[in-house]
Amino acid sequence: MLTSLVQAVYVIAAILFVLSLAGLSRQDTARRGNILGMIGMGLALVATVVLGLKDSERPVLVTGLLIALVFVIGASIGTWQARRVEMTQMPEMIAMLHSFVGLAAVLVGFNSYLTETHADSVHLVEVFLGVLIGAVTFTGSIVAYLKLSARIKSAPLKLPGRNWLNLGALVVSAGLMAWFLASPSLLPLVLLTVVSLALGWHLVASIGGGDMPVVVSMLNSYSGWAAAAAGFMLSNNLLIITGALVGSSGAILSYIMCKAMNRSFISVILGGFGAEGGTVVAADTDYGEHREIQAAEVAELLADARTVIITPGYGMAVAKAQYPVADLTARLRAAGVDVKFGVHPVAGRLPGHMNVLLAEAKVPYDIVLEMDEINDDFASTDVVLVIGANDTVNPAALEDPTSPIAGMPVLEVWHAKQVIVFKRSMATGYAGVQNPLFFRENTSMLFGDAKDQVEKIVQALAEAKATV
Ligand code: TAP
Repeated sequence: MLTSLVQAVYVIAAILFVLSLAGLSRQDTARRGNILGMIGMGLALVATVVLGLKDSERPVLVTGLLIALVFVIGASIGTWQARRVEMTQMPEMIAMLHSFVGLAAVLVGFNSYLTETHADSVHLVEVFLGVLIGAVTFTGSIVAYLKLSARIKSAPLKLPGRNWLNLGALVVSAGLMAWFLASPSLLPLVLLTVVSLALGWHLVASIGGGDMPVVVSMLNSYSGWAAAAAGFMLSNNLLIITGALVGSSGAILSYIMCKAMNRSFISVILGGFGAEGGTVVAADTDYGEHREIQAAEVAELLADARTVIITPGYGMAVAKAQYPVADLTARLRAAGVDVKFGVHPVAGRLPGHMNVLLAEAKVPYDIVLEMDEINDDFASTDVVLVIGANDTVNPAALEDPTSPIAGMPVLEVWHAKQVIVFKRSMATGYAGVQNPLFFRENTSMLFGDAKDQVEKIVQALAEAKATV
């Protein structure tokens, strides 16, 4: 009776997870999606604990206390970390969390192998695949975390014959699987763990910083498959369903991001791109002089403009400039200016980063457009405000085949009459490449913290209005 009840709760939780994913696909329903996911996870946790207590071989009280203890430790660390993490550090936090899923799958694999006395070959395959995917996810996510948090260099590791190394690791794993199935001893499983840990490390170390967004979502997918494998080993249907949902949605996201960045999915996962992607433009390449502009002059330009497009990037997130940007937008719209936002799919540091910030600052959704929707509008735009974006507005991606970001679609802001770039210096963006946009005839640089500068513009507009 209790077991069927738990299974029924699992089905409800699975449906809530599907509804949660559906909700998360749109900004205006994302909040509801999150809440549904939280309810689903709460139900799943309670049902699993009840099942654990029922099947407990120890006194129920002891098991209950043990579960409560790990729950308090895990929830405290999780809450502490989630509260202190900055939005811009989300990708590294996610990478770290994926590594836990990978490690858990490896531990479940070993536990399942050691405790299941009458294992059939299906179970052995589950154990083997769970450990393989889990170990790759574990070390791969650690490298992604180290690269994203700049603890190690984000440049790709270029070992000679790296594709052969990856292929070799897969062939060795297949051999170890045959050995493990023929004689299920601990040795092939331990060897597989070592090979998979090295494979995960090498796979992600070979991928350059520019492709990290895809890597994070790909590891998200791997962590889903690792969880699904753990679900098979534990005969837990909900874990299988949840793992498959995460695995497939992560794979779809990776594919969409690859398309957005004009990368081939296979070459990204094999660490092919970024390495052969060309040479970094020499820092001393002469692009000519750049022009500077002051906030008051930008305010004048905006007051005279009919159409304005704002293209936000990572710098807007760092400066937390979304609130003054929303204020500026409201003022310009009230004065009859047509204001729109152009959001690049990989602007910022995580998928949907800019959309979340703009929604947080209550910028209306209908004026926030995707890159493909807005790229044709730049030519008929008076002023473009590039606020803390760099790689995502770099014309070299389209014009310089030797650029490391060559081929990546970008926001073609330079077609507008006037482009104002908000940043603190002439430093490069995430991909570390120079941006010829800064030296164009119709571009002016507004140096300083993006939030301060936008506030100054808002103030100048308010003063101008007061004196009219
Ligand atoms: P970036 O190319 O990273 O450039 C951001 C610019 O913001 C920098 O050039 C920086 O210049 C400026 N900045 C930083 N702090 C600022 C502040 N307080 N005020 C004003 N400006 C500030 O940004 P992007 O165009 O958004 O491109 C995103 C990059 O990150 C892409 O290369 C993408 O592939 C990568 N990436 C994306 C993701 C996802 S999924 N979105 C994940 C990981 C990596 P100064 O230092 O001169 O101020």
